[in-house]
Formats: sequence, structure tokens, C-alpha cells
Amino acid sequence: LENGLGRTPQMGWNSWNHFGCNINETIIQQTADAMVDTGLAKLGYDYINIDDCWAAYDRDSQGNLIANPSTFPSGIKALADYVHGKGLKLGVYGDAGSRTCSNEMPGSLGYEEQDAKTFASWGVDYLKYDNCNDEGLSPQPRYINMSKALQSCGRKIFFSLCEWGVDDPAKWAGSVGNSWRTTGDIQDNWESMTAIADSNDKWASYAGPGGWNDPDMLEVGNGGMTTEEYRSHFSIWALAKAPLLIGCDIRSLSNDTKVILSNVNVIAVNQDELGVQGHKAQQGDQEVWAGPLTGGRVAVVLWNRGSAEASITAYWSSIGLNESTVVDAHNLWTDEITSSVKGQLNETVDTHACKMYVLTPK
Ligand code: DGJ
Repeated sequence: LENGLGRTPQMGWNSWNHFGCNINETIIQQTADAMVDTGLAKLGYDYINIDDCWAAYDRDSQGNLIANPSTFPSGIKALADYVHGKGLKLGVYGDAGSRTCSNEMPGSLGYEEQDAKTFASWGVDYLKYDNCNDEGLSPQPRYINMSKALQSCGRKIFFSLCEWGVDDPAKWAGSVGNSWRTTGDIQDNWESMTAIADSNDKWASYAGPGGWNDPDMLEVGNGGMTTEEYRSHFSIWALAKAPLLIGCDIRSLSNDTKVILSNVNVIAVNQDELGVQGHKAQQGDQEVWAGPLTGGRVAVVLWNRGSAEASITAYWSSIGLNESTVVDAHNLWTDEITSSVKGQLNETVDTHACKMYVLTPK
């Protein structure tokens, strides 16, 4: 969507993967504090997004959404002020049906303009818009209605479509929102993460500045995968120009998690201005994923999805380089540079691990 937002994939945090409905304003404030204190904010993670369950069960007598009085007693405007005071942005969640997925709060179907104005009046910067309780109506018109409402609400609000890829949103959402989910919900395990990476991949050509495929939020740090699996998860999401929305409790970040989420080399691939989604370039258990970057550079991930250590070779012919091109290969996780690599890149990769490079032609 050409609303000036999402020129590179959005970065930040969202409450759902770790907290589900067990959220309150203290958690959100402390998360904003932690985003700054851990140094993550200055790496680009600037959205603090509240997912489902922030609103009261019913609208007020004027039909307005209101914050849940027991868990968000100060209201969303006060929270937005707090988050803005930290130099960050606030996101909220809504639903394109009659009620949200948790059923805990009202949906925005039929209230699009009123709710968009409410969000704007509170200083909200981002709307994640879910798709439960659709009343039998197809997604596209419901999402278009909210998109129009947001564009005329008087505030720039990032619009994140969350209809789980049910109606092939990549095909139509480029003019509707700034990102669109391509899959069902991620779970904090290897099988789910790999399956989601694969289903998102087929939409690669539809992504670009202003509108991104969204294979769901990060599980890095939530405990269900090994450090190497999380490193693979983060590397592939970065290469695929996916939103980098942290889904763990950043108030208690382990060192391993912090190292993964803070890798500036990997983040730079995600935020590269060319905005081309990297894709799976060589199949099989020993996969190669690659995509072009600005300056004729190429980002490559050698990803071992097999159950034993393996040798993986990326061939120039499959990753978009001319056979004769000589490159310097920057290993983004060790920060080592190998100079003058020709024709192919061959490396040994541990099980479920990856190695990620930026190749710069000489
Ligand atoms: C379904 C979405 O896909 C999730 O990301 C989350 O927002 C839940 N709904 C909230 O109920």
C-alpha cells in the first residue's frame, strides 16, 4: 500500500506468541522499556504491538471500542503516549469480523470508520487486523473497507492483514495493506517453522516496498526450538523480507536470544532497500535460499534441514550470479570474510543449522 509506510519490512514486538490473552498495560510498558534498554530499539525494532484481548468485552454506549478496564485501566491513549515517549510506536489489534478470535473483544465489521478514528485519536501507529467471525463474508471487501477507513482517519497507520492466506492475499493486498499473512499460525517448533517458511515462499514475487508477505511472527526465544533452529528461523525470515516481529518476553532475554535478534548483518539483509524477497533456490534437505540486494550483492542461506551434518553447495547459476563472477563472501553469523570465491560456495552445515552470507562481486 502506497501510504508511505513499510518501505522495508516492519520490525518490532507483538504480545501474542508469548503472552496470548494474558496481557496488561504493565507488560506493554515494561516491554517498551526493555526494547530501549536491551539496545533492540536502536537496531530498528520500533513497533510495540498489542495483540488480541486489550479491549473491553462490549463497546461503550456510543459504540466506541474501549480498553479493558481491569487490564488496561489507563487506556490506550496513555499507553501510546508512554510508548511514543520512548521513541517507539504503538500497534493494536482488531478483527474484520463480528468478534475477535479470542471472542474477548468486539470485531470492527460495520464499525470500520468509527474504529479507525478511535485508533487515530489515541495515537495508534499500526493495526493488525484478524479474520475471525467473518459472518460468511469473503475477506477482500472487509479488508478494503478498513484500509479505506485507515487512509481517511487523519493518521498514518501501518495496516497488517491477518487473514492467514485464505483468499490468496498476495494477489490483491498490495493495494490494501502493508503486509499480509500467507499462512496459519506459527507454533514454537521446527516442523511448524519449516512448513511456514515453505508455504510463504511461493508468494515471493508479490512482495516489495510498501507490501510484504507475512509468514507470522518470530518464535525466537520462546523455548521450543534449539539455538541453531532459532538462528535458522531468524535467518530465513530476514532473507524472505518477512516482518521481524519479536514474539518472546524481551524483559528477560537470554544471551543466546539477544545475539540472534541483534545481528546487524542479518537485519541489514532484511532491511535492504531493494526489497526483493529471497526464495528457495535449491531444493532437498540441503537447501539454498537466496535473493538479490542493492549494489549487485546476493544474500544466501545454506540451510541444512536434514538430521545429520552435511555439505551444502550454492551454485552461482541458481542464485542469480554469472558463472564468471568472483565475490567476497561475508559470513553474517561469524563476521568472517572469505575473499575471491568463484562459481560456487561450499560449506559444512550442522543439522537444522544454517550459514548465511552476503556475496559482494569484486
Ligand atoms: C489468530 C492470529 O493469526 C494470531 O496471530 C493471533 O492474532 C490470534 N488470532 C489472536 O486471537
